[in-house]
Amino acid sequence: MKGAQKIASLTAYDYPMAKLLDEIGIPLILVGDSLGMVVLGYPDTTEVTMAEMEHHVRAAARAQPRGLLAADLPYKSYETAKTAVANSKRLVAAGAEAVKAEGGRAIIEQVRAIIAADIPFLGHLGMLPQSVREEGGYRVKGKIEPEREALLADAQALVEAGAFAIVLELVAPLVAKEVTQTIPVPTIGIGSGPDCDGQILVTTDLLGTFPWFTPRFVKPRLNAADQMRAAIEEWKKSI
Ligand code: KIV
Repeated sequence: MKGAQKIASLTAYDYPMAKLLDEIGIPLILVGDSLGMVVLGYPDTTEVTMAEMEHHVRAAARAQPRGLLAADLPYKSYETAKTAVANSKRLVAAGAEAVKAEGGRAIIEQVRAIIAADIPFLGHLGMLPQSVREEGGYRVKGKIEPEREALLADAQALVEAGAFAIVLELVAPLVAKEVTQTIPVPTIGIGSGPDCDGQILVTTDLLGTFPWFTPRFVKPRLNAADQMRAAIEEWKKSI
């Protein structure tokens, strides 16, 4: 789809959302470890376990979406090539058709091993949510020259290892554009400006079903939480 059509990608953590996204024709559905925050109530993604990912991947996979169903390898599940492959195989056994992990050159041995095991790999560069505690927050990447160079080198390394696409999260828009123009595989942006090959959002941010936190770059298209509250109030009064 690179260069031909913008790639609209969204997250799903369960059967109904995966089914809805499939009915709309979303070509890339991600069971993201963002489920830790927006479904499980953790403060960030670092507490999500393999067992929790498998549980949600199984639910989303039951929708049998026609688009690609990718799943996140959670925090510390890909520290070595061996654990990366073993845990990727667990996600595939649960129904994922591709896996995503955060990082570039720092995890390149793991990426090569996953791809050598015939598992399609989706990269993730820029702000890496699994490193939020070490980094002390969520910060735009690529504003300074060493970060721009690192992003370009990491993207190139992921392409050479065989990644089929790369998520760019909170990357300075001009750098996201440069990465997009430099590499042959699609970039999927989130908070990284309009010039990526596609865009991904956490679906609950788009729909307003998790109203307690909305990232600055998201314009919700629905205030579902308000509508849900109103419907529940109305029912409560009616009984
Ligand atoms: O976990 C997630 O939902 C992600 C985003 C890029 C959407 O990784």
